[in-house]
Amino acid sequence: MGLEKRTIKIIVIVAVVVLIIGGIIGLLLGLLLPQRYVELEVWPRSPEDTYNQPLIRFNPDNAGSWHDWYRRTNDFLREYETTTPEVPPRAPCSTHNQMDQVHRTEPCNVAMKMWTPCTADYFYGYNIGKPCVFLRLGYIHYWVPEPYNISTNLPIPPEMPRHIQQAMRQYPVYKYGDFVWVSCEGEFPSDQENIGPIQYIPAGMPPGFSTRRLHTADRIPYVARNLPDDTPGPIVAVLFENPRRGVLINVECRIWTRDIYYDRSSRVGRARFELYVD
Ligand SMILES: *[C@@H]1O[C@H](CO)[C@@H](O)[C@H](O)[C@H]1NC(C)=O
Repeated sequence: MGLEKRTIKIIVIVAVVVLIIGGIIGLLLGLLLPQRYVELEVWPRSPEDTYNQPLIRFNPDNAGSWHDWYRRTNDFLREYETTTPEVPPRAPCSTHNQMDQVHRTEPCNVAMKMWTPCTADYFYGYNIGKPCVFLRLGYIHYWVPEPYNISTNLPIPPEMPRHIQQAMRQYPVYKYGDFVWVSCEGEFPSDQENIGPIQYIPAGMPPGFSTRRLHTADRIPYVARNLPDDTPGPIVAVLFENPRRGVLINVECRIWTRDIYYDRSSRVGRARFELYVD
């Protein structure tokens, strides 16, 4: 009897210790591993392991300095290469410069025009110091976005950038559907001075990701959540029209939905990178 009691005691103590140690390890892993929930991807990435916060540095007059960025942008966009782009096209349909004399279909020509100047035809703007950077959403299979639109009476945050507020009026939700809006700006006041005007490409489309094209949890079967996507997600290009030369510019991009709160320390729906045009 006495022995049994002691055995039970030992078992209980061991169980509690195992639970505590397991809990601590779990907590540490949770804190140390990067968050994998609604990631805003920035492309091109740098080859180093710091790829999630690239320093995009180049000199427009020196092709050798920007060619790798051009090539890595092409590597990323190759996934979207098609002769029959959707309407509207989700990405530039060719990674071939027009001098390559690769035959393009007429729909692809139209799509390339829409993505001007963020196409291979223009070297994504690197050769003239007006680079294009591409954004895409990742890890969205568990996410049900609550988009901002003006078809409901819910408030719109006053700090929402003007270009999004305008787009919400210009592209009514009953016609264009909902969007996960996107914006980029200088991270600090000095960056805001140096970054210059920004355009979202395609220019004639809402600045964001159409929820119709996003494979979020509400749009895919439950069993598909752990599977990779068969079609690559929609992208938006950010065109830096006149970034100041010779200074480092910290750029911060983020998405706007009602359910994702802005938090400087978080990487959920938010990305940053550095731009340096020599
Ligand atoms: C508009 O926004 C609300 C609130 O986020 C959302 O519930 C709704 O699905 C959106 N779309 C339409 C068409 O109302």
